[in-house]
Parts: sequence; C-alpha cells; structure tokens
Amino acid sequence: MMNEKIEIELIKQTTRELESSLLYLSMASWVETTGLGGICEFLYDHSNEEKKHMLKLMRYINKRGGFARIKKNIVISNKQYTSLKELFQELFEHEKKISKEISKLIQFSSQEKDIFTQNFLQWYVEEQLEEETLINEILHKIKLIEKDQIGLYLFDQDIKNFYKNRK
Ligand code: FEO
Repeated sequence: MMNEKIEIELIKQTTRELESSLLYLSMASWVETTGLGGICEFLYDHSNEEKKHMLKLMRYINKRGGFARIKKNIVISNKQYTSLKELFQELFEHEKKISKEISKLIQFSSQEKDIFTQNFLQWYVEEQLEEETLINEILHKIKLIEKDQIGLYLFDQDIKNFYKNRK
C-alpha cells in the first residue's frame, strides 16, 4: 500500500500527463490546418504517447492500493499559434516543467521512504530526457529554417517519411 500523500502527488502527475496529451492534440490540430502533414503526424502520435504515460501512472496507483482519479478541471489549450517556432518553444518549456515535477516527485517519494515509487518513476526520468532532447532538436531545426519555406517543406517531408516507414 502506498501512503495517501504519495497517492495525491501521483494523481496530480496523472492529470499533468492527460493535460500534456491534450496539449499535443490541440497543437497537432493547429499544425494540420497549416498543411504540414509530417509535423502534425508527429504531434498526434505524441499525444497518444502522453496518454500512455497517464495510463501507466493510473495502473500503478491502483496496483498499489490507491484509486487513480482524474481531476475535474482539466486545462485544455485551443491556442492559435503564430509560428511553428512559437509552438515548439512552448512545447519545450512545457516538457521542462514536467521534468521538474517528476524530479520533485522522486524527491518526495525518497522523503516518504517509498522505494517502489522511486523505482517506478525512473522510467519517467528516462522518458523526459528523451522528450526534452527531441523537442529541443526540432526547435533548433525550425529556428535554422525559419524563413526558408522550401527547407520547412523538406523537413516536414522527412518527418512524414519517418512515420510512413514505421507503419
Ligand atoms: Fe509525459 Fe511529455 O510528459
């Protein structure tokens, strides 16, 4: 059994993962309207990844005798972006914020001497490292080709081909 304080903190993280999934989803929808099919595919796909992160947490909470419930007031974004740079900058900041929350959760579980949760959260540490690196790489590339429409088109095609080859 996990203690209630840990359960509450893990439920908060569950909500953050759901909000992340919805953020990627709303970004994907905006990008789709710009006609950049590769980048929108990436964002839709990542929205599903975030949902998996949420589910992994829910299943863990329940397995440890808690009850994984979803908060009522979920933050949903329906922002219209002015550029891809703005979008990926926001995403990068968002992922850094999530990494900090994971780090705080690990510190808290250590304080509460819950080694199971500490161990469980290591998966999220690896995941956050990968995500921050990936989003930052995309952001750098977008900054490089910012005003080059052909460059942007080719970059989008690269991502599209990556997804096509995975299917
Ligand atoms: Fe599951 Fe990108 O945080």
